[in-house]
Amino acid sequence: MTQESKIRVGVIGAGFIGRVHLDTFGKMPNVELAGICDAVPGAATAAATAHGVRHVFSEPAEMIGSEEIDVIVVAVPNRFHTDLAVAALDAGKHVLLEKPMAIDGTAARRIVEAQKSSRRTLMVAHQMRWSAMAREAKRQVETGELGKVYNGKAVMMRRKAIPGWGSWFTRKSESGGGPLIDIGVHMLDLGMWLMGSPKPISVFGSVYAEFGPEKRGTGRWGTPDWNGVFDVEDLATALIKLDTGATLSLEVSWAVNTDSDSGHQIHLMGTEGGLSVYPKRVVYTGQKFDRAFDVEVPSPADEENPRELMTRHFLECVRTGETPISDAVSGLANNLVLDAIYASAKTGESVSVSL
Ligand SMILES: NC(=O)c1ccc[n+]([C@@H]2O[C@H](COP(=O)([O-])OP(=O)(O)OC[C@H]3O[C@@H](n4cnc5c(N)ncnc54)[C@H](O)[C@@H]3O)[C@@H](O)[C@H]2O)c1
Repeated sequence: MTQESKIRVGVIGAGFIGRVHLDTFGKMPNVELAGICDAVPGAATAAATAHGVRHVFSEPAEMIGSEEIDVIVVAVPNRFHTDLAVAALDAGKHVLLEKPMAIDGTAARRIVEAQKSSRRTLMVAHQMRWSAMAREAKRQVETGELGKVYNGKAVMMRRKAIPGWGSWFTRKSESGGGPLIDIGVHMLDLGMWLMGSPKPISVFGSVYAEFGPEKRGTGRWGTPDWNGVFDVEDLATALIKLDTGATLSLEVSWAVNTDSDSGHQIHLMGTEGGLSVYPKRVVYTGQKFDRAFDVEVPSPADEENPRELMTRHFLECVRTGETPISDAVSGLANNLVLDAIYASAKTGESVSVSL
């Protein structure tokens, strides 16, 4: 595929993130918004009209089988990710798959196998890796300025933000879990990537549901369905041991009593320096002449949109056959760690992870 050839994109799911993908792909050169489908046909039609999508398909299978589609974007609840991604890869399509890659590690392994045998591009949509601050942090880690990074901490605490209480987000059979698999997967992915993508070897974790079951902790995300189900956690905490000897701690919540919404934060602790990565700044910390010091790296004024950068990278990989940075193997590692945290929370024991 040359740089000039048109890539025809079909999106499955016309909900919140499906519409964001339509908007983003719509800004890319040599891309045609060729198809959309949704379990709710009216949602697909409305999105097609709003974004100028050429064709509304009535079924995902019909779009996946169409000769007029090159790329499938999977933007539906987590339970459906694997069947759709595998069907698309088997049909020779390239896939941009929303996070989490799969609902669990077993389902994730099916995607890894299908990607290998199809030799098509599969990327998991971890746009956080593409923020200016994350890229700056990655650059600094790679210069070696931090020395050996032996501990990391990834945090995203939301105080009152259970999304769509009673919707698929809070039903384990459809989501796979609560904030751990929803926002924790982003933080885990970012933390592991900044630490050089070491292999996870074991996990010790706990999850809690102190707000959701009592219908507390809802906020601005989604519309509650009070007749629905809440059978997931609302806070998760874990320590992940890595094959480099380093550790990564992870703490995420949808609802918690703490003094502020933390935003997303990564702290990297190295032998020569540390980095704290926030949405809008990176702080380098070190020690010289017996004093500790901090240096702030300000946010660039012309920060490019992380989703646009991610989408451009995905399209470049489709054109060149290069492996995307958040590939199926990293998606599997994330899913296995999440599974191990849920398992450890159940048993009270540490759980080993084998990739
Ligand atoms: N990368 C991010 O930051 C980010 C942000 C939000 C959501 N997401 C992910 O995107 C996915 C969708 O989340 P959302 O917030 O858009 O949810 P949503 O509920 O807003 O939309 C989901 C859409 O999928 C449709 N749908 C459900 N099952 C379907 C099926 N089998 N076939 C076709 N259509 C189906 C629904 O009718 C709905 O329109 C989830 O995996 C979520 O984790 C990622």
